[in-house]
Order: sequence, then C-alpha cells, then structure tokens
Amino acid sequence: MRDNQGVDVAIVGGGVIGLAVAWRARLRGLSVCVLERDVAGHGTSRVAAGMLAPVAEAEFGAAGRRLLRLGRHSAGLWPGFARELEAATGTYVGLIKSGTLLVARDGDDAGELDRQLAFRESLELPVRRLRPSEARELEPALAPTVRLALVAPDDCSVDPRLVLTALLRACRSAGVQLREHTPVSDIELAADGTSQRVTGVTLDGGERVSAGQIVLAAGAWSGGIGGLPPNARVPVRPVKGQILRLRDPHGPGLLRQVVRFRGGYLVPRGDGAYVLGATVEERGFELAPTAGGMYELLRDAHGLVPGVSELQIEELSVGLRPGTPDNVPTIGRAASVAGLIWATGHYRNGILLAPLTAELVVSMLCGCETDPLLSGCAPERFSAVPA
Ligand code: FAD
Ligand code: GLY
Repeated sequence: MRDNQGVDVAIVGGGVIGLAVAWRARLRGLSVCVLERDVAGHGTSRVAAGMLAPVAEAEFGAAGRRLLRLGRHSAGLWPGFARELEAATGTYVGLIKSGTLLVARDGDDAGELDRQLAFRESLELPVRRLRPSEARELEPALAPTVRLALVAPDDCSVDPRLVLTALLRACRSAGVQLREHTPVSDIELAADGTSQRVTGVTLDGGERVSAGQIVLAAGAWSGGIGGLPPNARVPVRPVKGQILRLRDPHGPGLLRQVVRFRGGYLVPRGDGAYVLGATVEERGFELAPTAGGMYELLRDAHGLVPGVSELQIEELSVGLRPGTPDNVPTIGRAASVAGLIWATGHYRNGILLAPLTAELVVSMLCGCETDPLLSGCAPERFSAVPA
C-alpha cells in the first residue's frame, strides 16, 4: 500500500456535482482532490438536457415541495454562477431564459394541464394558461391539433457539456487536483471516541489518499462505494434516460422555448441544435439504447412539432439518473461518520441543483451549521432502507 500527502477534501466523482463542489471549495482555500474512475464530466451530467425548470417540473406531494424549494433557490443562483464561471474560464455555458411551454395534445392531457395549473397557482408560481391559438402564436411550429398550453416564462436552460468544460477549466486553474481513471473502492474510517471518522479513501489497486473530509458525489454509483457501516449508506438507484441530440440543417428558429409534453421534452439550444428527451426507466445499470425508447420519443415529439422529422440526428445517448427512494437529493453530513458529506441523488435535477449543492456543501466543509433549506435531504432518512 502506498500513501501520499493528504488533502483537506477528497471528492469521489467528477460529474457536475463533484466538480462544482471542488471549484467552490478550492476558492474558499481548501486543498481539494477529485477522484474520478473514468473521465471527468463523462457520466450522467454529459447526457443531461440542461433544463433549469423548477416551475415546469414542479410535482405534487411533500417531496415535490421540497424539491421545488431547492430548485427555485438554485435557479436563482444560476445567473451569478454562470457569470463567475464564464469570467474565470472564458467559456460560455449557454444559459438562456427560454421559458417552458407545457403542451396538451388531447382532452386527457388538457385536463391534466388544468390540474397542474391549479397546483402551480396555489403556490403562486409564475405560470399562465394559453389558448391553442396563443400557444401557436408563440411557437408557430406547434401542430394545429394542440389542445391547451401553459407557459412558465422564467424557466431557463444551459448546455451541460459547456458547463462541464467550464467547470473542468475552473477547477484546474484554481488548483484542484484532478485524478482521472482513478476508481475509489472504499472510504477509510478510524475510531473517534465512540463513533467513527473518515481518514481518506482507498483506490482500486490499494493506494490510499488521506483526507480530512470526503464528499461522496459518485452519482448513480454512490451507493456502491465500500467501507461504510450499513447505517451510514444511502440507497441510490440508477434511473435510465434515453435522449437524442438533433440539429436543424436550416439553422435556428423551429422552436424558441422548451416544449414539454406527456412523455418528453424538446430543448432548443438557440443555434439550431435541439435535445429530445427522455425516457424514464427502472432497468438497473443497463446502458443500451433501444428502438422502442427512441421510437416513442420521436413519435410523441413529431405529433406536437411535426417539423421534428426534418431534423438530423447527431447523437443518441443514455444516462443513469441518481435516484434516492423519495427522489429528493441527499445532501448533508453522515450522522454516524464524522467528516463524510453526501452530495448525491439529484435524480432529474442535478444540473439545476449544482450551484446550490456546491454552496451548501462548501459551507458544511467550512464548518457551518447545516442550512435549513436541507431539511428533508439528510442521509440518515434512509438508515432503515436496505442499501
Ligand atoms: P455524474 O455526472 O454521473 O457524475 C458522477 C461521477 O462519479 C461519474 O463521472 C462517475 O464515473 C464517477 N464515479 C462513479 N463511481 C466512482 C468511483 N467508485 N470512484 C470514482 N468515481 C466514480 N438535470 C437537470 O437539472 N436538468 C435536465 O434537463 C436534466 N436532463 C436529464 C436528462 C437525462 C436523459 C438524464 C439521464 C438526466 C438528466 N438530468 C437533468 C439529471 C442530471 O443529469 C443528474 O442529476 C446529474 O448529472 C447528476 O450529476 P452527478 O455529478 O451526481 O453524476
Ligand atoms: N430533467 C429531465 C430528465 O431527467 O429527463
């Protein structure tokens, strides 16, 4: 076994969450090492569509309200986060205030949209009902059969690949140690009075990296890192999403806003590129794209935006969303292991929640109390659930 000079913080996982935390922690003066088993930025974050859409994606129930609070807070941080990232790196991250149109294609969808409208109005969220003619005035590419639409004008989007490029540059120039092709096998623990505390991590192959604190940000794989007692583990599951990257050979203009419909969404990048997503499938760690998944996405999108059939397919990809049992992220200190912080389980909102997660995790790394915003995100809420 080989040891090395220790760092203040070792971060397991170089996705949008791990990199955002690393950059912000380094700016606060901590020495930081990101340990990435593959290539940083090539996990689920690279596949994401990039919607920053807490209003369009608001969901019923207590978990939905918790997510909405986090999402709206993080959406408010995005403009400043993007500005700082762009200033630090010279890399544009594609932040657009596009707004979202939620579109109904038949009577059932229209009834559901009315229920969604009432729910959003009860929370005083910025959303308006549009008649079909008004929706088609906003987006002439919509099919004449559209029955009803809602508009959430404040929703935004970014290009996650540009964000990842910028975060990698920002981390490197701030002095974060980035170790790729470096899988972490175990968190190392030592007795600390009656409880335990982290001392570092062990890599595949046996090398040790000593660290005073560890952030576990390994996305859908976070539940599989070894070394933790059963009551300190978080059950994270992979939720498969298939997605298409499309391009209009005639340039931009088919759509200006994000269009969401039952079963999917179309996200315009503003330069003639579109993202069409996404399936939501419980299939373990399977990563194979399927004809059925792609067929359904294209069929549903084409039914609402017929011009989709003219777009060229540039890429078909699959990602694994990190989901917890209640689909709310796990962000917080492990109750039974000192020095371990979880930053995972961001499910369908990891791009949206990256700035807020980074801010809250870094304040914990610096010794602050846990922010009340994180009530409902604590790791120990799953201590009775098998990992
Ligand atoms: P990842 O990006 O997967 O990063 C985790 C990293 O950990 C990986 O690089 C992995 O290689 C590494 N790792 C794993 N195990 C180890 C180990 N043992 N040692 C070292 N490294 C390890 N979110 C939004 O906000 N808006 C969207 O529009 C959106 N669209 C989406 C569309 C699709 C189709 C999908 C699949 C997801 C979408 N998401 C969206 C969700 C978002 O992509 C995720 O929530 C987010 O990427 C999670 O980021 P992460 O850093 O936790 O995970
Ligand atoms: N938030 C979009 C997705 O997960 O597909």
